[in-house]
Amino acid sequence: MNTEYIHWSPDRGYRREDLRKAAGILRSGGLVAFPTETVYGLGGDGLQKDAAKKIYEAKGRPSDNPLILHISCQSELDTIVKNIPEQAEPLMNEFWPGPMTLIFEKSGSVPYETTGGLDTVAVRMPAHPGARELIAEAGVPVAAPSANTSGRPSPTRAEHVREDLDGKIDMIIQGGSVGIGIESTIIDLTGTMPLILRPGFITREMIARVAGSAQMDPALSGRDHSIRPKAPGMKYRHYAPRAAMTVFEGDIIDVVAEINGRAAAYPADRVGILAAIETENCYRHGHVVAAGSREKGTVANGLYAALRQFDQLGVEVIFSESFSGEEQSEAIMNRLLKAAGHRVEFLPK
Ligand code: TXA
Ligand code: MG
Repeated sequence: MNTEYIHWSPDRGYRREDLRKAAGILRSGGLVAFPTETVYGLGGDGLQKDAAKKIYEAKGRPSDNPLILHISCQSELDTIVKNIPEQAEPLMNEFWPGPMTLIFEKSGSVPYETTGGLDTVAVRMPAHPGARELIAEAGVPVAAPSANTSGRPSPTRAEHVREDLDGKIDMIIQGGSVGIGIESTIIDLTGTMPLILRPGFITREMIARVAGSAQMDPALSGRDHSIRPKAPGMKYRHYAPRAAMTVFEGDIIDVVAEINGRAAAYPADRVGILAAIETENCYRHGHVVAAGSREKGTVANGLYAALRQFDQLGVEVIFSESFSGEEQSEAIMNRLLKAAGHRVEFLPK
C-alpha cells in the first residue's frame, strides 16, 4: 500500500482539500495516523468492524486489546454509550478536551471488534486542534490506539509513525512533536470511586480534587502477577526498546556512580544510558540519551523518543536513572518500568 503524507501545523492547520481527503478515508473504512496532544494515534471509523480489524492488523496487536474512541464534542457521546454516570460529569467538565479517557457501558452501535469483546467502551475527547478538526470532519467516532507497532514505544513524532507503519496504512498526518508525550490517563467509573487503570498526565491528585477521591488499579504496581489489570492492554510488555534495560533507584549521586561502574564492563557502543538533561554530562562511557529535564518537567515528553533512539543506536544493554520525583512520576515510572520488564535495582542509602 502506498501511504500518503499530509501536513498539519499549529499556525496554518490543514489545507482544506487535505482535511477533506483524510476524513473521506476514515469514512470509507481506511486508516489515518494523526497527532494528538498525548501521542500519535492510528485512526479508523470506530463504528465499522472492518476498520477495527485493519487497525489490529496494521499494528500487529492482539484483538482482545480494546481501542479508545475519540470524539470532537460531548454530544457525540450519546450514540456510543448506554448512559453517562453522574460521576463522569465533573471529570468531563474539568478535563475534556484533554488527556483523559473514561470507560462507559457501550451502546449497541459500537461493535465488539472495537471493544475487544467487552461491554464497555473507552472514550476520549482530545485537546489537539488538528485531531478535533479531523474527527469533526469525519463525522464518526474515531477509534485510535497509539500509532506504533504493538510492543514498540508509542510515537511522539510523525517520523516514529513512518518507521512503524509506512506502507501499511492509507495516510499519515505530519504534525510535528506532540505536547505531552505519554498516553492519556484511563479512568473506570463503573465502581463506587474513580479507578485509574493507566496513569497519565492527569494525576491521581488532580482527579481526586475534582471527584473527591481516586484509586489506582492495584495490578499497576506490577509486583503481583496474579492480579489482572482492568485495562487489557496494561498486561502486555509494552513501550519496550529492544535492549535489556535496568532502572536504578536511589540518591541520584549513587545512581550515577553505579551506572558508571556497570557501563564500564561493556564496549562503549553497546551500552545505552538513559538520563536527565541535568545529569547527562556525569557519564563517561556509552551512548547517553537525555529524556528531558527534571527541573523543567520535560521527561515525559522525551521518554519514548529516547527509547526509540536506543533501538537506532543498536545498544544491547540500557541503564536508566529513575524519575520518581517528577510531577508525572506515576505515569513516567509506569512506562519506564514496563519498558524495563520491571527490572529495578534499589541502591542502599
Ligand atoms: O493518549 C491516548 O490514550 C492515545 C491517543 C492516540 O489518544 N491512545 C492510546 O490507545 O494510548 P492504546 O490503544 O494504545 O491504549 C488503549 C488502552 C489499552 O491499555 C486498552 O486495554 C485500554 O486502553 N482500554 C480500551 N478500552 C477499554 C475498556 N473498555 N476497558 C478497559 N480498558 C480499556
Ligand atoms: Mg498503545
